[in-house]
Amino acid sequence: MFPPRTRMPEGDAAIRATDNDAALARLSAVRKGYLTDPFITAFVPRAHLEPPRPPLINIGTYVRSEALDELVNGWLSLSQQEGVQCQIVSLGAGSDTRFWRIATGPARDVLARYVEIDFPEITTKKAMAIRKSKDLSSVLGAPENVSLDRKANGGTTLYAPVYNLLAADLRTPPAESLVPVLGSGPEALLAPHLPTLLIFECVLVYMTPQASEAVVQWFTDYFSNNQSIPGGRGVLGSIVYEMFALGDQFGKVMVNNLKARNITLPGAEPYPTFDSLPSRFLRHGWDVAKALTLKDIRREYIDPSELARVSHLEMLDEIEELELVLAHYAITWGIKLPPGAELKARWQNWGLKRKAV
Ligand SMILES: C[S@@+](CC[C@H](N)C(=O)[O-])C[C@H]1O[C@@H](n2cnc3c(N)ncnc32)[C@H](O)[C@@H]1O
Repeated sequence: MFPPRTRMPEGDAAIRATDNDAALARLSAVRKGYLTDPFITAFVPRAHLEPPRPPLINIGTYVRSEALDELVNGWLSLSQQEGVQCQIVSLGAGSDTRFWRIATGPARDVLARYVEIDFPEITTKKAMAIRKSKDLSSVLGAPENVSLDRKANGGTTLYAPVYNLLAADLRTPPAESLVPVLGSGPEALLAPHLPTLLIFECVLVYMTPQASEAVVQWFTDYFSNNQSIPGGRGVLGSIVYEMFALGDQFGKVMVNNLKARNITLPGAEPYPTFDSLPSRFLRHGWDVAKALTLKDIRREYIDPSELARVSHLEMLDEIEELELVLAHYAITWGIKLPPGAELKARWQNWGLKRKAV
């Protein structure tokens, strides 16, 4: 008798399942002491039964998370220095807890709006988790100011004064996916004059380059075509985290492993090398775009005392293997500044700061 074969989810279900992977990796990194996140457990059903992930995954999750936190915190603090509030839009947000971490932290008042977008199935799951957890729902504001709706696309949307959870398939043209949920004109959720940060944490890689470009271009236009609005146009920034350089031997193994789970990575095709990464933003006319691999971030952009702390958490024999994996993941960030703005000097230096001595 052969053991029964585990059926892998197919098509979009396989892509949606990656949210579970990300949440479990975060849960594991938190439990092992790499990260602090009091909110992740509420998004993982039966979290106490989940086994820890291997050290390599925990370290990767830690490096990615630290770097993203530094970029987001830098964005919040630049906005604060300008004396303005800012907006964050997380696309393919999955079970991410960032909103709750910011909203219960020292920069909570800087946040004017936090929008999360994902497939309808994922927003429905997330909305239910939020409703079930007092720790999550109490952060959204008074219950009478929070509304839960089921939209025509089948997904649950949640509107709160700052936090908004919206259902959309980012592969469909923005006019059909983003505009209906973000609204337009005076009803629009996003104010075009506020500094706005787009976060794409491991999502564009699952979409075609054409679909990703349409999303980035839509936001670029949204923050460019509003000359008449009071206060002018806002600074637009973005962070993309994902795999790249998948044409080499290691990359091919990664692609084949994911293929076995019915997942393809069409979004990695335009990025065969490290040097190709900034083109993601520069092709849309953005002013600055930079990238770093997780390997370089771990070596030089994490505080040495932090690195020493996490090195004692678990035994890791294979540094070479770790570095090979981390060299295939990158964080790319970019910024588009309003023309002629005096803000330029301050905002264009937004980015990760080297810590190694
Ligand atoms: C690997 S998970 C990452 C989740 C979260 N950003 C994080 O890093 O923890 C990828 C997420 O992107 C979402 N996603 C992928 N393709 C999408 C699409 N076309 N439209 C909306 N969401 C999408 C998935 O449903 C999933 O929640």
